[in-house]
Amino acid sequence: MRSLLVLATIGLAAAEDGLSGWLRYARIKGAHGYHNKLPSAIVTLNATEGLPVYTAGQELHQGIEGIFGKKLELDTGRKKGKGKGKGQHGDTTATVGTVAAYVDSNPSAASDLPELVDDGFYLSVSRGNVLILGQNERGALYGAFHYLSLLAQGNASDFTLTSNPDAPIRWVNQWDNMQDGGTHGSVERGYGGDSIFFWDGKVRDDLSRAGQYARLLASIGLNAVVANNVNADPKILSPENMDGLARIAAAFRPYGVQLGVALNFASPRDLGGLDTFDPLDESVIEWWHDTTDELYKRIPDLAGYLVKANSEGQPGPMTYNRTLADGANLFARALQPHGGVVLFRAFVYDHTSLDEDKDWKADRANAAVDYFDGLDDKFEDNVVVQIKYGPIDFQVREPASPLFSRLIKTAAAIELQVTQEYLGQQAHLVYLAPMWKEILDFDFRVDGKPSRTADILNGKRFNRKLGGYAGVVNVGTNTTWLGSHLAMSNLYAYGRLAWDPSSTSEGLLAEWIKMTFSDDKRVLDVITKLSMESWPAYENYSGNLGIQTLTDILLGHYGPNPASQDGNPWGQWTRADADSIGMDRTVWNGTGFAGQYPPEVAARYEKIETTPDNLLLWFHHVPYTHVLKSGKTVIQHFYDAHYEGSAVAQTFPRLWKTLRGRIDDERFEHVLFRLEYQAGHSLVWRDSVNQFYFNKSGIADEKGRVGNHPYRIEAEDMKLSGYEPYDVHPFEAASGFRAIVTSDNSTQGTASVKLHDVKTGKYDVAVNYYDMALGNSTWELYIGCDRVGKWKGDLEYNLGRAPSPYVDGQTASRVTFRGVHIKKGSTLKIVGTPDGLEPAPLDYVSILPEGIVD
Ligand code: GCU
Repeated sequence: MRSLLVLATIGLAAAEDGLSGWLRYARIKGAHGYHNKLPSAIVTLNATEGLPVYTAGQELHQGIEGIFGKKLELDTGRKKGKGKGKGQHGDTTATVGTVAAYVDSNPSAASDLPELVDDGFYLSVSRGNVLILGQNERGALYGAFHYLSLLAQGNASDFTLTSNPDAPIRWVNQWDNMQDGGTHGSVERGYGGDSIFFWDGKVRDDLSRAGQYARLLASIGLNAVVANNVNADPKILSPENMDGLARIAAAFRPYGVQLGVALNFASPRDLGGLDTFDPLDESVIEWWHDTTDELYKRIPDLAGYLVKANSEGQPGPMTYNRTLADGANLFARALQPHGGVVLFRAFVYDHTSLDEDKDWKADRANAAVDYFDGLDDKFEDNVVVQIKYGPIDFQVREPASPLFSRLIKTAAAIELQVTQEYLGQQAHLVYLAPMWKEILDFDFRVDGKPSRTADILNGKRFNRKLGGYAGVVNVGTNTTWLGSHLAMSNLYAYGRLAWDPSSTSEGLLAEWIKMTFSDDKRVLDVITKLSMESWPAYENYSGNLGIQTLTDILLGHYGPNPASQDGNPWGQWTRADADSIGMDRTVWNGTGFAGQYPPEVAARYEKIETTPDNLLLWFHHVPYTHVLKSGKTVIQHFYDAHYEGSAVAQTFPRLWKTLRGRIDDERFEHVLFRLEYQAGHSLVWRDSVNQFYFNKSGIADEKGRVGNHPYRIEAEDMKLSGYEPYDVHPFEAASGFRAIVTSDNSTQGTASVKLHDVKTGKYDVAVNYYDMALGNSTWELYIGCDRVGKWKGDLEYNLGRAPSPYVDGQTASRVTFRGVHIKKGSTLKIVGTPDGLEPAPLDYVSILPEGIVD
């Protein structure tokens, strides 16, 4: 009863599906006590329904009612504000509008107002009187959201604040395909369901989710969304789809979020019927100008274009021996009359011809700088080159892309990935702000002067007007948006860092946790701990020392498969052989990549002694026995890190469970399920990677753990009936390299073993199995006659991570039954029932005494 009362007073919603993200406006503790610090009325200046100032008024109304239970009078009809202090309502007022509208009615106030840049805001709170002024309408809405965010965190104190965005470009890229089942599902590298924008080749009729998305984005200062995939379908520019795009833009507009469009370079040919898409051809130029005019007729506030050209099979200017600048300028010129910008991606490389066996100096990492070399003064002013944070592709650890330091005259934006493509696909918790901060704070020392990435992006370092941030977000129709409640901290942090890159990872987390869950101290502490430990843990159990995330790069970019990095032209090589590992990217002996940095940084990376351990294998090829600055050998570091990282992941579900009752059950269970899964899959990572390098190097783990699992019973060693042994590929994805599968697709299999060596007592029983995307097999675990548990292979429906049809590191999963009573000599039996083409595959069972993980 007491806990029920507590829950009621802190306003915990009974069940929540995540749809409102951090904008829940949930009632806070002691809400009533704040009422005298709050305004009594809201006045919007020159508000037009459907535009941001109007929205700001609505949000303030809804927010203050939700957070405090105080219903405010909302005056949207007034054309002129009376300003700060007592309004005509004779009571305290929240006034929101643009600076221009405010000064119009209060000319004398002009000199007291601070300088604001586009989208900036001024916020003043004084004894319930609140003044929120934006440099533009969008800024006014940002100010309102900022005020509400403080209120939602229980802060209603007096203050004044001037807040300007660090950089003007604060975009989101969605990789949404127009058709369901595109390259990688309907949202490429999306793990939260189908596209909220497109269905069946067209823009959806119901765009309510697009509006809700824009609301979330506006609340963190993001100002544009490219809704369609960079691997763009030319049909996006058909008249019907342009009309659809105009509807998306209309759904965004109340939140000040502009629409951008990703283009296919060959559209003049593939959609327009021309026989060329040469960027210097007159008919092509005219086609793009006409098409751009058509778009702006429908969407006058279109933000601009995003272009992926000559990359991973996409067409581009180089198809006609034209430069990338020729390509970018084609769009820039078409956009200029309308004030639009083109984000032109630097992710240009040839994925077909690199050969590591033939050429020690071949290196995909060199591509961006090589392709953009000599073009710095060739771009139109409204071109922004969009550069992935590292030279390869969103790996768990990469050095900052040297291209940031090479474009002096050309505006640049950094491309960050909120969707966790290589980083656990939202099935693993990985809080990314600390990684992004390392890149944003990196100092390139251009001309020997401080040159932080963030100061290059905001234009300060090289005196540029444009620049900023592009985040690949890839939300979907799932009510959690990204497929996981905790992953939303990454979206929150992305927007807030694009606004202010000096924000701290912990500070952003605290804001997000308080608004998303509650300000309960324990909730704050636990989620902060899990989140802050998550990136280091993931790096430890995936890829260490700069070797990259060792996912299966030929399949889903998810589970472990170190061998897949090499022997193909994708260029994410490790060059691991029996004795040594790492990419030699030095100038003196390697690919020369280190030399792409300004001299001070280049010199640091050129030498092993001055390269930080965490990037050693990115820059150098060394023996497994090379001794790190830490004193460990490379191979022992691999072994230890994998044990340490996966041990941290084991603590996640335990810690989370301490929040039971402090978070609504719906989100509590949803998160717990993922953390349990992650704990199991981190062990798959640990064993696969360690086993792989143990086999390659032949060097034993000093601590004797690798390949030695005393608590395991291999399925292939059990007594089998209807099951048969199966050689797993890659070998390291199975303990002992083998698993078992049912003999056919319709007959149950049984694997049993007498537990002679197990003392009577309580154990945790862990079962490693494979959940392929070909069916939903069922497994039942028995000890003697007692059924301990039954589970289904339906992770493909419960986790958004890429599905795999194979018995591999991607599908390898673990289920654990805790506190199972086992009598010495009893029989353990697993019955597997295949389904569809999934043959109920099993790897091993571990009988674990309390406290042991294996
Ligand atoms: C990665 C990703 C692709 C994506 C590409 C890009 O390679 O796996 O799905 O299209 O990056 O950024 O263009």
